[in-house]
Amino acid sequence: MKTVSQISELRAQVTAWRQQGLTVGFVPTMGNLHAGHISLIDEAHKHADKIVASIFVNPMQFGANEDIDSYPRTMIDDQQKLTAAGTDLLFTPTPDIIYPKGLAKQSFVEVPNVSEGYCGESRPGHFRGVATVVCKLFNLVQPDIACFGLKDYQQVQVIQTMVEDLSMPITVIPVATIREDSGLALSSRNGYLTAEEKAIAPALQKNLQWLAEKIKADFTDADSIDFIGLSKQAAKEINTAGLHTDYLHVCQAQTLQPASEGDTQLVILAAAHCGKARLIDNLQISLA
Ligand code: PAJ
Repeated sequence: MKTVSQISELRAQVTAWRQQGLTVGFVPTMGNLHAGHISLIDEAHKHADKIVASIFVNPMQFGANEDIDSYPRTMIDDQQKLTAAGTDLLFTPTPDIIYPKGLAKQSFVEVPNVSEGYCGESRPGHFRGVATVVCKLFNLVQPDIACFGLKDYQQVQVIQTMVEDLSMPITVIPVATIREDSGLALSSRNGYLTAEEKAIAPALQKNLQWLAEKIKADFTDADSIDFIGLSKQAAKEINTAGLHTDYLHVCQAQTLQPASEGDTQLVILAAAHCGKARLIDNLQISLA
């Protein structure tokens, strides 16, 4: 696998592939790679001839009090994992390359509606940063397909909406969440957890599963479902386990609007603090 940090090197390689009639798949990341990231590379191989990955800890998507400085950076290990997964090219730009004018003078992409609420509310400006960097990376790599993990469910909706609204000729492929046996979703931020916290962290997914079962059971009763009351109960259980719930909502799966009676494609979106880590997770429910 070749690693490049300059835009000219990236473009030269992608152009050469294009001239050979090859298709290009793309997996953007912030590094500290785990099996979840690698599953995106594996999926990309099913849809494209050559695979480009990027590692860029994007300053535009971190808030002032967030963990950009302590975000784990493990380049050598990441390169080994990407090589083993058959990645063809790794793009590792610096912030100067992506934002030469600095963040304050940078044009940005904002995706309304799906960016609002949930992580958008807890992390103001986060999805503007994500949409802007992914738009830039798409323009630099010009892939045919790009893979994103459903672990970041709202992020997938933001990217899919951006691609559709701005007519980007790219197919976005959502990829299922990879979990530990305990049910805890793999995340670069799990490294912040102590052994004790790691033991209680699975309570997040466990209670989403409890809530999904309750919703399915109530649906067959044909009563109107008390989404808010049930969500509060699940959040309470998560807090009792020792986590601190940031939000937990049952939403319509595409628009992310609060679920209401008659909706059949739902997703539970949740975030909870566990020690120094902020964990996010979700669970899709199909009632039809
Ligand atoms: P990062 O958190 O590094 O994640 C990169 C990709 O890996 C995202 O699409 C994410 O959803 C996916 N991913 C993370 N954990 C996963 C898991 N357990 N199973 C499956 N996929 C998983 O998300 C970002 O970076 C950034 O916001 C980025 C899109 C790169 C823009 O900066």
